[in-house]
Amino acid sequence: MTTAPNRSSLTITRPDDWHVHLRDGAVMAGVLGHTARQFARAIVMPNLSPPISSEAAAEAYRAQIMAALPDGADFTPLMTCYLTDGINPAELERGFASGVFTAAKLYPAHATTGSAHGVTDVANIRPALEAMERIGMPLLVHGEVTDPAVDIFDREAVFIDRVLAPLVRDMPGLKVVFEHITTAQAVQFVTDAPANVAATITPQHLHINRNAMFAGGIRPHAYCLPVAKREEHRLALRAAATSGSAKFFLGTDSAPHAVAAKEAACGCAGIFNAPYALESYITVFDDEDALDRFEAFASLNGPAFYGLPVNSGTITLERRPVIVPDQLEAGGALIVPFHAGETLSWSLCT
Ligand code: DOR
Ligand code: ZN
Repeated sequence: MTTAPNRSSLTITRPDDWHVHLRDGAVMAGVLGHTARQFARAIVMPNLSPPISSEAAAEAYRAQIMAALPDGADFTPLMTCYLTDGINPAELERGFASGVFTAAKLYPAHATTGSAHGVTDVANIRPALEAMERIGMPLLVHGEVTDPAVDIFDREAVFIDRVLAPLVRDMPGLKVVFEHITTAQAVQFVTDAPANVAATITPQHLHINRNAMFAGGIRPHAYCLPVAKREEHRLALRAAATSGSAKFFLGTDSAPHAVAAKEAACGCAGIFNAPYALESYITVFDDEDALDRFEAFASLNGPAFYGLPVNSGTITLERRPVIVPDQLEAGGALIVPFHAGETLSWSLCT
């Protein structure tokens, strides 16, 4: 990593996005360029309809993504398997051995968008988890309980107590990524856990607290799951991301939804942050006086955890303002990006 003396620019190894929703069809073709412009690789979420739960489905989805890449793009999608109650461990093993699957995703059933086919009880996927532990296949976790009796702002912390802590204790060899963490409890859990447990952190959870959803009225574009929490949690996430700990790395959770699906009586969860993801993250590291730790978070910690090589090549960000548009078009859909209408103080050089 090289930094200009006045820190007017920062050059780092090409980064990866360890958690993204690319969707499919025309919208995928429309949003893909944003991710491919910023990142060399991305872990692609499998919560399509129907979900990506077989090696064949993941191969077909990967081919669809490759075919939609802009000319000259150097981007590798890393595919994941959507775990269901009935998942066959042999399917996971086959797909991982062939290199089609990089990881598998645990959605508790009905926890979030596209999770209707998710797991109703982790006990149901015990054989799959044992196979994953044996072969070193990472488990990616959406960490929220779905018990309606649990307050929505407590669902992540309760998930740690009820599900994740017992799982990590009982399966000490299982690689676990606690995805898009949102609480001080999650930061503490991951910090205290052994090296086989890591976490991704999104830009929005570093920038906004739960007040953003209610600033002068209801703000659907600040709504994602897990939902943003109190300020004390945002501060804990910023400290973790900029700490230099190898356990925390970049995962945008960019989740595009058309404006009409967000601005509705029952609006979808998801924030579309792909277009200015690096600009959004680096602002946090700059504000925290931690620019020297940005490369580890964005480009080094993720590959080390996944056991993949670090990318070759570099990217440069410079301290130059960029205005985020109010809306973007993708596959005929209008989508409001994260930071819409704001000016960010860093720009990615192209
Ligand atoms: O806000 C979210 N949106 N959280 C998720 O877990 C899923 C995602 C989506 O697919 O829209
Ligand atoms: Zn996600």
